[in-house]
Parts: sequence; C-alpha cells; structure tokens
Amino acid sequence: MEENRGTWSSRFGFLMAAVGSAVGLGNLWKFPYLAGENGGGAFVLVYIVLVVLLGFTLMLAEMTIGRNANSDAYGSYNKIRKGFGFIGGFGVLAGFLILSYYSVVGGWVMKYIVASFTGVGADKAGYFSNFIASPVEPIIYHLIFMALTALIVIRGISGGIEKASKIMMPALFILLVVIVFRSVTLDGAMEGIRYFIQPDFSKITIKVVIAALGQVFFSLSLGMGIMVTYGSYLNKEEDLEKDAFIIPALDSLVAILAGFAILPAVFAFSFQPGQGPGLMFITLPAVFEEMPLGVLFSALFFLLVFFAALSSSISLMEVTVAFGIDQFKWSRKFATIFFTVLMFIIGIGASLSMGAWSGFLIPWIDGNSYGIFDFLDVLTSYYLLPLGGLMGAIFIGFIWGVPNAVKEIKLGSAFKTEKLWIVLIKFVVPVLVFIILLSTTGLLDRLIG
Ligand code: PHE
Repeated sequence: MEENRGTWSSRFGFLMAAVGSAVGLGNLWKFPYLAGENGGGAFVLVYIVLVVLLGFTLMLAEMTIGRNANSDAYGSYNKIRKGFGFIGGFGVLAGFLILSYYSVVGGWVMKYIVASFTGVGADKAGYFSNFIASPVEPIIYHLIFMALTALIVIRGISGGIEKASKIMMPALFILLVVIVFRSVTLDGAMEGIRYFIQPDFSKITIKVVIAALGQVFFSLSLGMGIMVTYGSYLNKEEDLEKDAFIIPALDSLVAILAGFAILPAVFAFSFQPGQGPGLMFITLPAVFEEMPLGVLFSALFFLLVFFAALSSSISLMEVTVAFGIDQFKWSRKFATIFFTVLMFIIGIGASLSMGAWSGFLIPWIDGNSYGIFDFLDVLTSYYLLPLGGLMGAIFIGFIWGVPNAVKEIKLGSAFKTEKLWIVLIKFVVPVLVFIILLSTTGLLDRLIG
C-alpha cells in the first residue's frame, strides 16, 4: 500500500496544491470582512505578525510530521508516537465541521456566478440577505457544491487537484490584480485604502488578536492535518523550510489583495466596512456594475472564487475521507459518500440558520449564543484549529522531540532558521496560543478578575 501513496509530480505542483488548499474563502471572503469588522489596518498588522510567528512555524511543523511518517493525519501522529493519533483525529473532526458550513458559502458563490448574468437589482444588500435566508435555493447550491467536491475526491486527487491548482491559482492571482486595480482607482477609494493599511493601535484589543489568530489557522489550513497529509507526499529532497515561507507568503498576499479589491470599493460606494459575511457579496456586484464588461468580470471573479473554494473543500474532505479509509477500512467511494451525506445534512442546518432557524441559538462557553452557521465557524476557527496547532507544537517540542524534527527538516534544507524555529515551536507558539485560547473562552477574564 505504501508504494501506492504517490508523490507530487513537481515541486511547483505541490506548492500550487498547498496554496490551493490555503487560498480559499478564508482569503477572499473572510479576511476582508474580518478586517472590516476589527479595525482595518490594526487587524492586518496583528494578522501579519501572527502569520510570521505562528504560520511559518506550524506550517513547517505539520509538513515535517507528514513527510517523516508518510501517512494520513491520524496515522502520522500515531506512527511517530503510539497513542497520539488523537491529535490528527481532532483535525479530522475540525475538517468535517468546517466543510459543512464552508460548502454553504461555496453555494452562495455559485449563485453569484449565475447572478452575474441575471443581475441583482438596485438593493444589493437586500438581494443577498433574501437569498441566504430563503429555505430552499441556498440548500440546492450547497448540495451541488458538496456533490462537486465529492465527485473529485471519489476519483482521487493526484492528477486532478495538482493539475487544476496549477492553472487556477495563477489565473486567480491575475484576475485579482485586475480587480484591485479597478477598485483602488474608484472615486473615493482612498478612504478605504487608508482604513485598510493605516493601523490604529488603539483598536488592537484582545478581540482583534483572537479574530486574527483564528484567521491565521483557518486561512493557512493549519491545525487540522492537511499540511501533514500533503507533506506526506513529498520526497526527502524537498526544501520544507522554503515551502513553509512560500505558502504563507502567497496566502497572505492573496488575502491582502482581496482586502484591496473589496474595502476601497466599500468606501467608494458608501457601504459600512463592518457588515460581516455579506461584504464580498454585496459590494462587489456594485463595483462590477461600474466596470466596462462588468458582467463578464463579475462572472469570472465569482468563478475564480468558486475554484479557490473548491480546491480548499477538496483538501478538507480528503482529510476526512482518508480517515474513514484508514481507520475503518472503508472504500474511498463509501467513505466519500458517507461523509458527504453527513456534511450535507449539517450544512442544511447552517444554511437555515440564516433564515428560518435564525431563532435557534446554541449557548457557548464564551457566554454568547450562536446560530448554527456561526457556531460551526466559531467552534472550528477559534477553538478546534488553535487547539490542534497547540497540541501539534507540544507534540514536536516535548513528545517526538525537536532534534528528530530538525533531522527530518535538514534532509532537504539548509535550515538557516533552525534556532529561531526551535524557540518558536517549543515556547512561543504553545504559550501564545494557550493564552489566546484562555481569553477566547473567557477563562482568562475570570482568572485575573
Ligand atoms: N484555508 C482555506 C481558506 O482559506 C480553508 C480551509 C481551512 C481549508 C482549513 C482547509 C482547512 O479558505
């Protein structure tokens, strides 16, 4: 079986697939509205600091575990130290829950490809909120998105993901640059640009740091074993240190470009930046209306967002499916269908929570109550993924042992950042993530009064 696992066909192909997993709705949809809600430049600044400290460190850690153990997320941890597979198992649960609501948003994106041609009318906010609150249509799109994801995963991803990512990622990048250019040259864009890049330090609160931390994990696909799995298909000559720089750098670049595509337009059209998940869906159609060939640009843009979402959803589903195959000895086909049905059902709840079920709230340990959609998002981004990252760091620092990890990394890289990485993975990451997790739960407030 080991011989059949396969490897990436080229380094570029691996990088594009990893970037394909990382770059998704997190960058294009979530990042701009989180920045909008959490003080613009202040959020961006905190985000970048956390990417440098945590993103690089954990990306390298996960790829190293995967390449060393040569197995799926659960199997890799278990293979290195018997009994620690639960760390990977934890990631499987996170991936399962994320895809349930991720797919709902993937469906919204598909709807907006269609709406690019049919038009959304003058009341763009109303169009969006009516659509996501309606009981049937978004669920049909959610079903189609899940089905497409399943279709690709059933066929295996080796030829598919890598090949698609190699075309889609550069195309996405080019189109994004075009849209950024249009957005920043709109009348009144300057205010938005200023809001996005000028950090107002008084706005950096613990809430901003928590939001940025959750976003680092979510956007880089960290804390749930995807980079363990992808790393397991790498050969020993691969320069993991360099990859752990390149992937977060490209991911952050796309997130920042998305901010420049959306926030200046928000201000130019006098929308509010803190309007949450609707940001991309409400403002971009307004921007496209002002452009020559706007219908075409709009369709193309949402098509590319759709592909970015799909290349991420495949990586999410793959982690779950691989778990079913390895741990329960299911066939790939059965595992895919089984998990797709479950995720589809949970996603129905997430979608309905935008409308018919908006009154159904889940009380949570932070003292708030959330609808199903927000609950899944909060639970995974702010709790499960950071917890997964924390356990992964402790695993390397104190269970597997840093020297073993360093030996693995040095097989293919000069590892100039060795000393820095050791300090980061052993101490900085665990302490930082632990403190932030404590305050996320509200426990810190209770402890220090
Ligand atoms: N990183 C993806 C994005 O930014 C989402 C994702 C999260 C994918 C976790 C895999 C794992 O959209």
